[in-house]
Amino acid sequence: MENSALHALRLSVSNLNHPLNTPVSTLVFACGLPASHLMVIGEAPGAEEEKKGEPFVGRSGQLLEKLLNKSGTSRTGQGAQGHYITNAVNWRPPNNRPPTKTEIELCNPYLFKHIELINPKAILLVGATAAKAVLKKTAPMATLRAENPHQIKLLNGVTVPTFITYHPAYLLRNPAATTLFLEDLATMKSYIK
Ligand code: URA
Repeated sequence: MENSALHALRLSVSNLNHPLNTPVSTLVFACGLPASHLMVIGEAPGAEEEKKGEPFVGRSGQLLEKLLNKSGTSRTGQGAQGHYITNAVNWRPPNNRPPTKTEIELCNPYLFKHIELINPKAILLVGATAAKAVLKKTAPMATLRAENPHQIKLLNGVTVPTFITYHPAYLLRNPAATTLFLEDLATMKSYIK
């Protein structure tokens, strides 16, 4: 389903001489249909994702998918019913540590090109690493959420409304925050309708 520009981007990312692992681990590029209106960006793949070569397939990914399904999109859906998912960093950091600043910066130009190619109507950032990578902001989550929607300007001049919310791994540890996550999805939906 990938067009040639996306395929070329995937190849460039896979050829990137990245510092995450030696030997180089599996590239986890993206999932979902490129024509989805919503692009979701997480942190970096974990062990399950690395095994399957697909983002967000482990426990937190299953929760993310369930909550996004509730708000009307899925990774198999088209257009307004679809979401396309990638990560700030496309390889699993060793020992599941958070990606370093250097790793985030290395992947960043490719991430922004990825956003340009998908050309989403909205972006949903899940967690602080995605906020760092896309918004270049490190404020507390409550502050960043209160500023929704952020507007990010791409190199091609397009501005994309961008919403930040909790990472699903945080929701697994703090189920009470699920209500806030669903509120963020509802705000995003009403904004892009
Ligand atoms: N956490 C993420 O941020 N991304 C994944 O793909 C899996 C877990």
